Amino acid sequence: MSKNNHAWTLDSWREKKIHQIPTYPNLEKLKEVESTLATFPPLVFAGEARQLKSRLADVANGKSFLLQGGDCAETFQEFRANTIRDNFRILLQMAVVLTFGERRPIIKVARVAGQFAKPRSNDLEKRGTTELPSYRGDIINGYDFDTKSRTPDPERMLRAYFQSAATLNLLRAFAQGGYADLHQVHSWNLDFVKKSSQSEKYDSIAKRLDDALLFISSIGITRESTPQIKETELYTSHEALLLPYEQALTRRDSTTARAQDGYEGDWYDCSAHMLWIGDRTRQVDGSHVEFLRGVKNPLGLKCGPSLGADELMELLDILNPQNEAGRITLISRMGHDKVESKLIPLLRKVKREGRNVVWCCDPMHGNTITTDNGFKTRPFSSILSEVKNFQQVHLSEGTYAGGVHFELTGKNVIECLGGDQSITADKLAEGMYETLCDPRLNATQSLELAFQLCRI
Ligand code: PEP
Ligand code: CO
Repeated sequence: MSKNNHAWTLDSWREKKIHQIPTYPNLEKLKEVESTLATFPPLVFAGEARQLKSRLADVANGKSFLLQGGDCAETFQEFRANTIRDNFRILLQMAVVLTFGERRPIIKVARVAGQFAKPRSNDLEKRGTTELPSYRGDIINGYDFDTKSRTPDPERMLRAYFQSAATLNLLRAFAQGGYADLHQVHSWNLDFVKKSSQSEKYDSIAKRLDDALLFISSIGITRESTPQIKETELYTSHEALLLPYEQALTRRDSTTARAQDGYEGDWYDCSAHMLWIGDRTRQVDGSHVEFLRGVKNPLGLKCGPSLGADELMELLDILNPQNEAGRITLISRMGHDKVESKLIPLLRKVKREGRNVVWCCDPMHGNTITTDNGFKTRPFSSILSEVKNFQQVHLSEGTYAGGVHFELTGKNVIECLGGDQSITADKLAEGMYETLCDPRLNATQSLELAFQLCRI
């Protein structure tokens, strides 16, 4: 606890070494935007973040399963009701399949309503003889390759905030307004998914669910008596990368204030229910770890192959000093061929030291390749193999494989190779490759993966 035992303040992260933060040319403007954002209403309520923490504590204790997923990055251009609905719908479909497979509650956490900022390996991108700042996500700069668009612009944070608010508003309506009613499972099946063999399997599960609903309604358990039938819980999450934005949305929870000693309440980052620290920004003495140790939200920590077991213990000391179950989700993203060599030492250390964590598998970020025709993609077979290996090592180590984390979209895109649709590298060039960042599973591949995970 040597490096981080000083007092935390809202901006103590500014004293630390910062990684992956853009260079804003206009610092005055940046300050102005930060102050404006700090006056805006929070996007989520601290009580909801606490509820998610308790749901994740159930996952840590093996009682529930975590399904986290969504776009690699949201964009301003793709801000459409249909996109939001289709991403929500595929999560619902996967959750139904996983409920049958896991036979326990599925906790749904979307990468949405704030997932805008992207870490980049290179600060600059070169095309021909021109070199410009890399695209870092719509909350920071634009994708178009010209000086104006690539220059970081603080005003983009305001637009991201309003887009997140509207997105969350629609998702709350879908989750609670009847769209997620379990009587609707048939209608969630998207037209293009219907053409795949996943559809038949999905329909048979939907049929079993219909029968079960009919049965329980005959003994008096209906959507009127039991709200879980007609509505669902959906939580939001994103990588807490752009710290000026995260700080501006961090608020004190007055419900935890104490009159007797003048304590003004716990801090919550109200930009999302759950925030995670990326694999490139998890330095023990870095800004991101410093900022997130001070907020009470449930946190994710990406664990890539360069993370050592001792370093992980240091991070857990800093981020979860009380060893609270539900506070930390370790998101393993090793690459399908490194799960045994890199994950097992972490699992053993965490288990030996009695740390309470959720173990979740992100089979996307360690399995990215570039095809000969120049597309950044991921083979479905590697994705599946990483999750299977993850499950296998947990089985052999006697620990609980508590969740999965995917980059996916409900749209009919062609970005990842293979799967039931046998997508080849040539197909990536046919105009349905839409991502500006990482390749996503399409709806058919996402459903296929859910079936494969639980061998239904
Ligand atoms: C991501 O989840 O989009 C990401 C960049 O992941 P990682 O930090 O694991 O590379
Ligand atoms: Co990504």
